[in-house]
Amino acid sequence: METTGWSLRLILVVAAVSTTWWPPANSQPQTNLLNRGCSQYNATNIADFFRNLNATFSDLRSQLSNGGGRRFATAQQERSSDPVYAMAQCRNYLSEADCLACFDAAVSRIRNCSAANGARVIYDGCFLRYESNNFYDDTTLPGNIQICGNRTAPQAAAFSAAGQALLTDLEVATPRINGFFAATRREVTNGDNLTIYGVAQCAETVTQRGCLDCLTVAYKNLQGCLPDADGRAIDAACFLRYSDTPFFADNQTLDIRPFLGGGGDSSKKKAIIGGLVGGGGLVLILLAFLLWYKFSRKPKAAPRGNILGATELQGPNIYSYKDLKAATNNFTEENKLGEGGFGDVYKATLKNGNIIAVKKLDISSGRAKADFETEVRLISNVHHRNLVRLLGYCSKGSELLLVYEYMANGSLDRFLYGDKRGVLTWKQRCNIIFGTARGLAYLHEQYHVCIIHRDIKPSNILLDDDFQTKIADFGLARLLPENQSHVSTKFAGTLGYTAPEYAIGGHLSEKVDTYSFGVVILEIISGRRSSDMNVDSDTGFLLEEAWKLYESGMHLKIADETLNSSDYTPEEMKKLLEIALIGTQSPASARPTMSEVLVMLVSDGSAEQKGPSRPSFSYGNRAFGDTTSNSTGSSASNATASISQFTGR
Ligand SMILES: *[C@@H]1O[C@H](CO)[C@@H](O)[C@H](O)[C@H]1NC(C)=O
Ligand SMILES: *[C@@H]1O[C@H](CO)[C@@H](O)[C@H](O)[C@H]1NC(C)=O
Ligand SMILES: *[C@@H]1O[C@H](CO)[C@@H](O)[C@H](O)[C@H]1NC(C)=O
Ligand SMILES: *[C@@H]1O[C@H](CO)[C@@H](O)[C@H](O)[C@H]1NC(C)=O
Ligand SMILES: *[C@@H]1O[C@H](CO)[C@@H](O)[C@H](O)[C@H]1NC(C)=O
Ligand SMILES: *[C@@H]1O[C@H](CO)[C@@H](O)[C@H](O)[C@H]1NC(C)=O
Repeated sequence: METTGWSLRLILVVAAVSTTWWPPANSQPQTNLLNRGCSQYNATNIADFFRNLNATFSDLRSQLSNGGGRRFATAQQERSSDPVYAMAQCRNYLSEADCLACFDAAVSRIRNCSAANGARVIYDGCFLRYESNNFYDDTTLPGNIQICGNRTAPQAAAFSAAGQALLTDLEVATPRINGFFAATRREVTNGDNLTIYGVAQCAETVTQRGCLDCLTVAYKNLQGCLPDADGRAIDAACFLRYSDTPFFADNQTLDIRPFLGGGGDSSKKKAIIGGLVGGGGLVLILLAFLLWYKFSRKPKAAPRGNILGATELQGPNIYSYKDLKAATNNFTEENKLGEGGFGDVYKATLKNGNIIAVKKLDISSGRAKADFETEVRLISNVHHRNLVRLLGYCSKGSELLLVYEYMANGSLDRFLYGDKRGVLTWKQRCNIIFGTARGLAYLHEQYHVCIIHRDIKPSNILLDDDFQTKIADFGLARLLPENQSHVSTKFAGTLGYTAPEYAIGGHLSEKVDTYSFGVVILEIISGRRSSDMNVDSDTGFLLEEAWKLYESGMHLKIADETLNSSDYTPEEMKKLLEIALIGTQSPASARPTMSEVLVMLVSDGSAEQKGPSRPSFSYGNRAFGDTTSNSTGSSASNATASISQFTGR
């Protein structure tokens, strides 16, 4: 019955749009569809999934309908094989009844995705999205687009100028407005009775900065619509729309000038444009504008399937070898970002200006191609803020290339003992430790397939431009040909970070990552390589020394001397040292899981925690150390050499 009511309403809306009559703008749910998409990955346990989905939707609905004027809600069901995270948002100018009507329409449409583990629907009036992972802090994603109207505004040049100014002001003001929403309007300079209306909105879960980032992209997209009479830009966390026809009630209009403070740029620009348009510059402006219009206008519609969160919905992109070769300057040395365990990584600039990282895999494609693609799809579907995103791949003959998002700050090792040594503050280090733990816990326990990284070390921990942790290279061990020998499987690990039972016996469990993570904590707090001998001390390798310092109560002696000693407390240092040692205990069963590590990291009392118990004999580093103590370098190639030497005996 509800559905019938719905179709009727939809028909009414369609009818309203197709005639020029526009009903009072705030008395309809505005279910004009802008974008929708279903993930191509299905949930694993369908019954669980639908139970979770239904529960989150009804949670969202009750949040939107509690009379409190809320137009934004998130809800999730996290604990299950098929978690659901969902977000709903109405434009604030909708009444509660219209908001709910729009939401209900979105729910019924999104259910068309049946068992897909992610989907979204964007209407003029509202937005609904769900995923199997937490996406609440997504800001701008590939697939952001503009949707332009097909009618040119009267007085195109003046309209465009006013539109530019209005949209710039919305871009600047909205992030500063509580609730991240603004509806405003502006008289078009020199236009008799021509007004431009605009709305901007961000998800309330992003930061002010995230809102601005998203609206900046939206603004750039919308510029391509002017001088069309209307246009919308959509993205993961924001919405921007303008029109020459009112689409919200007059009394919803907000004077956004108070929020422009400091950024006088746009009003100045506007004044100049206004002055020129008013004066004799009109012809020039018109010409300039027409030229700009000709060259900057973007295609009206995005290619099919190019929807928000591209990889998630479409699976990994397939890149052409030719493009990647061109983008990396034929894989020149200058473009090389690093040499990883699985192959070299290059910085690549695509034709559209996007920067990506390309990993040229060393491993031969011993597996069937279909098998490789299955693994790549699995890895590319892993989305977590602390894991580097795999965007796509390319396979040409025996060459296999993986395409990742590019991380501006490179890897953690540079900051611990490389050219950027001493740059990281204590707080940043703690964040990096926490982010790494979170990423690993996700891989082990929250993703539907348990992925053991096997090679956690600072050169695999990347930092984005905000110094947020992004773990690289996860899942790659899964790409190793199955017929590859037992010994070479161990190449997945690196000297000094690899748990002894894995290095020696090949026993693989997620505790292997806990061990490496413990070593990484030690490196982060000490600024030392686990494999370097401390020249001033006779105690030897880092892990060995950490035990001695811990046992003798001299925790602070482990601290990196480049740290400002007033930034951390002895308790913090002791806690991290303790967690590192607990993580490196043997046997593996004595080590905590990564989610237990997370709990330890956030809890403050070390009182309830049992201290670590030292392994009865320290194999790990000592054993490897003996085989490498003659080699001064500690690069990966040395490491692999010594592992094979070691395992060869
Ligand atoms: C997902 O499930 C739907 C039906 O529930 C089915 O039609 C579709 O083929 C499935 N897709 C995949 C990729 O398994
Ligand atoms: C979820 O809701 C839909 C639509 O209301 C219903 O058809 C389905 O049976 C529900 N599924 C579960 C598991 O509750
Ligand atoms: C769901 O999909 C079917 C066919 O693909 C279509 O006829 C129907 O209108 C869709 N329902 C909604 C609510 O989008
Ligand atoms: C826009 O174009 C569509 C067809 O592409 C047409 O049906 C519609 O009437 C047009 N709208 C306006 C306002 O011109
Ligand atoms: C301007 O618009 C108002 C209402 O929208 C209308 O009453 C008025 O006649 C218009 N004036 C001109 C000059 O078009
Ligand atoms: C805005 O005006 C509409 C009538 O057009 C009215 O129903 C509504 O209550 C008003 N809202 C506010 C906040 O004044």
